[in-house]
Amino acid sequence: MKQRAQFATKIGVIATTVGSAVGLGNIWRFPYEAGTHGGGAFLMVYLMCVFIIGVPVLCAEFVMGRGTHKNVRGAFKQLHSSRLWHFCSYTGILASLMIISFYSVVAGWVLEYFFQAISGTLTDPTAASHASTRFSAFCSSTFRPVMWTVLFLAINHLIVSRGVQKGIERVSNTLMPMLAFILVALCINGVLLPGAAEGLTFFFLPDFSQITPSVILGAMGQAFFSLSLGLSCMLIYSSYFSDDVRLVRSATTIALLDTLVAVLAGVIVFSAVFSYGVQPEQGPKLVFEVFPSIFAEMPGGYVWAVLFFLLLFFASITSTISMSEISIAFFSEEYSMSRNKAAVISTTIAVVFGIICALSFGVLSDLTIFGMTVFSLFDFVSSNILLPVGGVMFSIFVGWFLDRTFLRNQLTNNGSVKVYTFKIIVFLMRFIAPTAIITIFIYGLI
Ligand code: TRP
Repeated sequence: MKQRAQFATKIGVIATTVGSAVGLGNIWRFPYEAGTHGGGAFLMVYLMCVFIIGVPVLCAEFVMGRGTHKNVRGAFKQLHSSRLWHFCSYTGILASLMIISFYSVVAGWVLEYFFQAISGTLTDPTAASHASTRFSAFCSSTFRPVMWTVLFLAINHLIVSRGVQKGIERVSNTLMPMLAFILVALCINGVLLPGAAEGLTFFFLPDFSQITPSVILGAMGQAFFSLSLGLSCMLIYSSYFSDDVRLVRSATTIALLDTLVAVLAGVIVFSAVFSYGVQPEQGPKLVFEVFPSIFAEMPGGYVWAVLFFLLLFFASITSTISMSEISIAFFSEEYSMSRNKAAVISTTIAVVFGIICALSFGVLSDLTIFGMTVFSLFDFVSSNILLPVGGVMFSIFVGWFLDRTFLRNQLTNNGSVKVYTFKIIVFLMRFIAPTAIITIFIYGLI
C-alpha cells in the first residue's frame, strides 16, 4: 500500500496549522467584527471563546485526525460503527466547499488591490478620494472579480496538487515567516501614527455595557472561523502529524499565535482608522473602502499599501489550501482516485461556486435565497450554522462516544508526555464546549 503523506518537520506542523488558522479571518474579518461590536468588549469575549471553546474543539479534531491518520469519513468509520456519525463527515465537506467559494472572491479582491497598489493607482490621491465608489464599481462589475477569483483558485490548485509535503508544507514554511515580518512592520508603523493611541484605547479597553447576545454569537462564530474549526480542516491536517507531535501543546500554540495575529491586525487597523478620523463601524468594506484613502495620506503609503495587500494574500492562500485539503483527502481516499483527479474535482466545484459568489455583487445580485445573495448565504450558512454544528459534533463525539483510553493515549502520546491540563481539556470538551455552543447558537438565531 502507498505510504500516507506526513508533514516532514515540527516547524512544518506549526507553519501549516497556523497558516490555516491565520487568514482573512484575522486580518479582514476580526477587525471589522470588533469595530462593529464595540472594540474592547468584543476582544474580551473573543478571548474567552478561543480558550474555553476553541482549544477543546481543536483538541477533539486533533485526536480524531492524528489518532486515525485518515480523512474525516475514514476517521468516523474507524472510530465508531454508527452510520449516523459517518454521515456527519459530509457537513464538513459541504461547508469547506462553500467557504472556499466565497473566501476566494474576497481573496480575488485582495489580488486586485495588490496590483492597484503596485501600479500606484490605489494611493493616487484623486483615485483614493473616490475609494468607496471605486470599490463598489469594481465588485459589481463582471469580468475583473471573476478573473481574480479564478486566478486565485488556480494558484491554490497548483499548490495543493503538488502534495502535502512539496505543496502545502513548503508553501506554508516559506510564506508564514514573511507574513510575520510584514505584520510586525505594519504594526510598528501603525502605533507610530499620530492619534493612534485613541484607536488602541477603543480596541483594548472593554466597555462591558456593549456585551450583548449578538456580540457573544459574533465572537464565537469568529473564534470558530479563525481557528479553522468545525469543518474537519484541523482534523485533516493533524492526520499528517507524526505520532510524537504533542496535541494539547500544539493546539494551545496555534490558538495563541492565531490570536496574536488577530490582535496585531486590530492594532494596525484601529491605529490607522482613528489616526485618520474614520468611524470604526464600517463592516466588511473597512479594508477595501477606507484603507486606500488612509494609505494615500500616510507617509510612505505606497509601500505600506503594497505590503498590506501582500500580507492579506499570503494569509489567504495558506488558509484556502487547508480548505481544499478536506475535500481532496476525502475524494482521493474514500473513492480511491489519484490526488490530482481529486484536486481537479474540488477546484472545479470551487470555481463554479466561486464565480457565482463573485457575480452576486453585480449581475447576480437579484438572485437571492431567503433574502440573501449567494455570497452572503454561503457565508451565513457555513460560518453561523455549519461551523458551530460541526464543533458540537466533534466535541460530543470525542468527549462522549470515543473510547476513553484512545482519547487519553492521543492526548498524552501513549502516556509518554505529562499533560497537566488533561482533565481540564476533557472537562471543557465534554461539558462546557457543547453547552456553550448550543446555547449561544440558539440565542443568536432567535
Ligand atoms: N481560519 C481561516 C481564517 O481565519 C479560514 C479557514 C481556513 C477556515 N480553514 C477553515 C474557516 C476551516 C473555517 C473552517 O481566515
